Amino acid sequence: MVCDLRVLSRNALRGSRVRSPTFFNKAYFLFRAYSIKLTALSNVAKKLYHRIGAIAWPRPSRRILLRFSLSHIFVTALLGSLLTKKSMNASVKTEMNAPEIIEQRVETLLASMTLSEKIGQMSQLNAGEGYAPDYLADGLRAGRIGSVLNVVDVKVVNELQRIAVEESRLGIPLMVGRDVIHGFKTVMPIPLGQAATWNPDVVKEGARIAALEAATCGVNWTFAPMIDISRDARWGRIAESLGECVLLTSELAVAMVEGFQGDDMSASGSIAACAKHFAGYGAVESGRDYATTNIPETKLRNVYLRPFKAAVDAGVSTMMTSFSDLNGIPATGNEFLLRQVLRDEWNYDGFVVSDWDSIRQLQVHGLTENDKESAFEAVSAGVDMEMAGDAFSHHLVSLIEEGRVSIERIDNAVANILRAKFRLGLFEDPFTNPEVLPPIASEEALKAAKRAAIESVVMLKNDHAVLPLSSESLQSVAVIGPLADAPYQQLGTWIFDGDVELSITPMHAIHSLVGHDLDVRYLRAMENSRSRASDTFDEAVQIAQSSDATILFLGEESILSGEAHSRADINLPGDQAELVRRIRETGKPVIAVILAGRPLTLTNIVDQVDAILFAWHPGSMGGPAIADLLFGVESPSGKLPTTFPRVVGQIPIYYSQKNSGKPASWDNVAHIDDIETRAPQTSLGMSAFHLDTHFTPLFAFGHGLSYAAFEYHRIWTSGNEIAMGEGITISAELTNQSDVAADEVVQLYVRDLVASITRPVKELKGFRRVHLEPGETLTVDFLLHTDDLAFFGRDMQITTEPGEFHAWIGGSSETQLRTEFRITPGN
Ligand code: NOJ
Repeated sequence: MVCDLRVLSRNALRGSRVRSPTFFNKAYFLFRAYSIKLTALSNVAKKLYHRIGAIAWPRPSRRILLRFSLSHIFVTALLGSLLTKKSMNASVKTEMNAPEIIEQRVETLLASMTLSEKIGQMSQLNAGEGYAPDYLADGLRAGRIGSVLNVVDVKVVNELQRIAVEESRLGIPLMVGRDVIHGFKTVMPIPLGQAATWNPDVVKEGARIAALEAATCGVNWTFAPMIDISRDARWGRIAESLGECVLLTSELAVAMVEGFQGDDMSASGSIAACAKHFAGYGAVESGRDYATTNIPETKLRNVYLRPFKAAVDAGVSTMMTSFSDLNGIPATGNEFLLRQVLRDEWNYDGFVVSDWDSIRQLQVHGLTENDKESAFEAVSAGVDMEMAGDAFSHHLVSLIEEGRVSIERIDNAVANILRAKFRLGLFEDPFTNPEVLPPIASEEALKAAKRAAIESVVMLKNDHAVLPLSSESLQSVAVIGPLADAPYQQLGTWIFDGDVELSITPMHAIHSLVGHDLDVRYLRAMENSRSRASDTFDEAVQIAQSSDATILFLGEESILSGEAHSRADINLPGDQAELVRRIRETGKPVIAVILAGRPLTLTNIVDQVDAILFAWHPGSMGGPAIADLLFGVESPSGKLPTTFPRVVGQIPIYYSQKNSGKPASWDNVAHIDDIETRAPQTSLGMSAFHLDTHFTPLFAFGHGLSYAAFEYHRIWTSGNEIAMGEGITISAELTNQSDVAADEVVQLYVRDLVASITRPVKELKGFRRVHLEPGETLTVDFLLHTDDLAFFGRDMQITTEPGEFHAWIGGSSETQLRTEFRITPGN
């Protein structure tokens, strides 16, 4: 959401002059870095001076002489070291980043700050204008602002940093935040699409490229990864998520954090990540954005919090609170989440930012009476920085004066923020020189975007092997639909900085790939995905009729998913189903390529088409990726990161559901059409299902077909038993029974049969993307430790319980290839 609380008319403001950092600025920073480095030594020296001075040189003039001598030593040391370092910045940054030095620097700086400067650090302002307005410049000079967001003009960012570091009393640099969610200028597939790659390397590289590109504009903080477990396709923000699975989300969250932050956070091109939204946002009632969540603590700990714990363990710099209400206490004022779990249990030492104005919204939730009480609840719960609101800046002083908020809490919040700034190396060099970074949209970036898109596409069905299409056996192909040539729409949600000029659409890519061999006939047929005007459908039918095959590009425009874009009906919008029906009537092969920000209910079209490629919103290089997949240059290898329901009424439906006392199975369900009039009450089967649909989803989690044919033959374990605290290897053998080389994502699922709280029927415990040549047989081993099977039980302690386990390996969560093992109590 970008809505500026402080939208001030440009005319009403006198813009501040934008200056580039000069050589002298840089020299100044280097000098300052060295001075800070010497602060600790100088403290020792000062003490020494006082002690020795008081004894040996009682007269002040002598003391001045001693002070001069000590200063001389430091200046000499400083100059000496300046002259001997080759790469001064890098070396300074590395040395200054040692954890103990950072803690000392935080402490020293904190000790010199006024209360107002401290509260300034806790305040983030929207600065989305293309210049540095006076209110911002004045705020920076006065030390009233610790961070800005939404400014991406490097000159403006450098000017804001210059004012902050040169014109404020303490010269504290700024965190510059931006929603860099799935790419900056080069756009990767939406996060849900990236999750469909099941490939942490691809995800990490995507984040790395996004960081490098964003850093050229001075951005040093992204509000990503979004790691809310999402099990409701109505929720528009499922697009930004990594899907429904705890393990997949956790592993990809770590990959994103590593990609954004790099090996060295202070290096050029590394930016701070932000794990959001803490916590439970994905469980909003009926998928309505911002709505309430009710999550029992065991579920919270076993599902929703786990990806955040993984991100914390991976060193994520910041966390963002969720807008949502969790069990009656909105996350932004939730002490259990922000203090007990995050700080006391996880020892997190990064900082927590609120979501946009979510502190003041505590009043709207009905938790507080006014902004002052909202500030009190948020700061007491553990929010360190307020995003785009003024509750902290207006009310913290009086809350402290009244003794309701302790100065220790403020110091702790500011220390968390300063620590992040030190780790980013901002005190050594707050300025951005785009020239030291790789160019935007480099060849590598576009190649990575294409690879990510290829691996993200999931082939949901492929009857009679209609795909891949062959440009040798076909004469013509019809390319029809609102998303075949929609460069903006294929980018998806959250692409504030995405460069639409980089988008290559499927229509263009098909033309360049096979246009010289095939007659490619294109018709948009619908103005947009929601359109209800079917007046061009006759023409579409004619084109399809006269072509050897039709590729329909259907789905959702990007505006239909993302924040505040939830849908109650997740069928293909507009008249798309009717278009499919009409094209089907031609009797020619029909391939649907679906671009969307969420799983859709495809029940009404699934039997009307021969093949479906689900491409999410695939980003800048979506077109070439899809063309290569359609024509067999590449084989599809994406797997669903979330379950596809048949109808909305099945939601929430996810693979790791509990068994219930009356699970549905083929022999205990009935269909509404088969019920006799006046059928007796218990005659229909007494199990957990809906009468008017199937008890299974349309497409299961982990599902995804390939042009190759993978056969899993055997599963075995390294032993029947594992002692507590030890590991077991679970292996399977698979063969590529085709003449196509392709990737397969091998998945390991486990069920804990009996436990002190009921456990899911399946949980993903491992996955690996492997490549198999035609005819190749491969053994894939997963090493599982008993800790991998731990869960939070009745006492909210994490534990692994001894007993029986089932394990499955296969190409989707529906795999039936099973083995068993037992955990024994151990010694
Ligand atoms: C609100 C969204 O919930 C959050 O994800 C985003 O990072 C902020 N706005 C900043 O735009």
